[in-house]
Amino acid sequence: MSDRASPLVVAVDGPAASGKGTISRRIAGRFQLAYLDTGLLYRAVGAKMLEAGLPLNDQEAAARMARGLEQPDFHRQDLRLPATARAASIIAQIPQVRQALLEYQRWFARNPLGGMRGAVLDGRDIGTVICPDATVKLFITASPEERARRRCAELAQGGNPADYATVLSDVIARDKRDRERASAPLRQADDAHLLDTTNLAIDEAVAKAAEILEPYLR
Ligand code: C5P
Repeated sequence: MSDRASPLVVAVDGPAASGKGTISRRIAGRFQLAYLDTGLLYRAVGAKMLEAGLPLNDQEAAARMARGLEQPDFHRQDLRLPATARAASIIAQIPQVRQALLEYQRWFARNPLGGMRGAVLDGRDIGTVICPDATVKLFITASPEERARRRCAELAQGGNPADYATVLSDVIARDKRDRERASAPLRQADDAHLLDTTNLAIDEAVAKAAEILEPYLR
């Protein structure tokens, strides 16, 4: 058991559909860590803005939505839709939105749920901004074409089939917005381990991630 004053923190970042969500969830299970998909926070804000018919560049409204998030907002049916992902990446550019979500993410990292040994957080800025002192950091990537292929398969499985070319251009546009924004852009932290999953099946990617993390999580 780790010292409760300093729980283990695994920071996982990377672009859309790189495999980081699945890898993080499985790593959490394997090493008895709590798991937070931080993309869901941004998706919930995006979904609420769309539902309210508010323009996505309304900074005040988006920050208010971010401050007012509640548990049921994370169980909405529309969180995984492409329109929600796009809205999430637009409101994620707003510094007041990021600020409103920051404390909860840090609190989660410091207070692992249910007696877990620590926490895994996945997102875009976990290793750089949210948990710069994480025990270990992973940056997970894959080619845009492979990521679009995976996202298509995922959407089809969820009953929302989508056209490959459209998904690919969405993925590229979202990467660009996430990498080029001024506030907490997507980038690999200097001390993050790089894992490219382009040519790996998911089980192989999880095994590689576990191999990298193992020495830090013993
Ligand atoms: O990871 P996911 O695809 O669910 O994230 C949706 C969007 O939320 C991302 O494209 C990104 O703009 C934003 N996001 C972020 N910081 C995070 C997690 C997600 O800016 N830590």
